[in-house]
Amino acid sequence: MWKSFLRNKKASENEAVQLDEKRLPQHIAIIMDGNGRWAQKRGLPRTAGHKKGVDALRNIVRYASSIHIQYLTVYAFSTENWKRPQDEVDFLMRLFSHYLDSEVEEMHKNNVRLRFIGAVEELSHLLQQKIKAAEQKTCHNTGLNLNVAVNYGGRAEILRAAKKLVLLSKEQQQAMSEAQFSEFFYTASQPDIDLLLRTGGDERISNFLLWQAAYAELSFVEKCWPSFTEEDLASVLMDYANRDRRFGGLK
Ligand code: IPE
Ligand code: IPE
Ligand code: MG
Repeated sequence: MWKSFLRNKKASENEAVQLDEKRLPQHIAIIMDGNGRWAQKRGLPRTAGHKKGVDALRNIVRYASSIHIQYLTVYAFSTENWKRPQDEVDFLMRLFSHYLDSEVEEMHKNNVRLRFIGAVEELSHLLQQKIKAAEQKTCHNTGLNLNVAVNYGGRAEILRAAKKLVLLSKEQQQAMSEAQFSEFFYTASQPDIDLLLRTGGDERISNFLLWQAAYAELSFVEKCWPSFTEEDLASVLMDYANRDRRFGGLK
């Protein structure tokens, strides 16, 4: 029932972090923000922060997997991020492509099921092919479900679901429940978000998982994403374990 959260670490590096497995979130969402600021503070181009952000993600995925988190959804590129300078957008698209080349093998070995959510059909054909191949390769894995949100927008996702709804008959539309409507979302058949975490110090949702995070516990941390570690996630999880989730009811 109690489980040591940090493994393979020198004793001097951390105090023993113990958490009740039963009080872990089933589904964690992360807004991986602050890459640009992390780099700029170090006199580096913003792109260096994105690159370092991939290392942070690798560590967090390993860690989440090792403590048996079932679902992790990370925000990598929003529908609004196209407004950025073309150079930065191009860099990010190449980075996603490299990410797929370099990370999928290890994830597969670790039983991670990888999926991309968002308007993937608007990405380059090469990227779409790599995404499809990675999703197919890992589709029978039963460990951590990792959703990477690329060209994702919460409003766009709700509109997309509404467009599916209006294709049904009047009777079917009238009878639709919230649970059934959820099946029109990218996260169909996955549980709602329990914990929504944002790094980088800003306290906003930025169009992420608007439907799925309706009752999520929110956590905002100052650290920028590239310096966010498994110890930091462990401490967010400790805090989450002490939250009183009422869902509108009474204790
Ligand atoms: C998050 O870091 C990554 C993406 C949005 C792609 P940012 O690039 O937003 O970094 P800051 O917030 O400007 O520091
Ligand atoms: C949210 O961060 C999107 C991602 C982390 C991918 P942004 O940096 O785009 O959000 P705003 O502009 O600060 O709200
Ligand atoms: Mg940002």
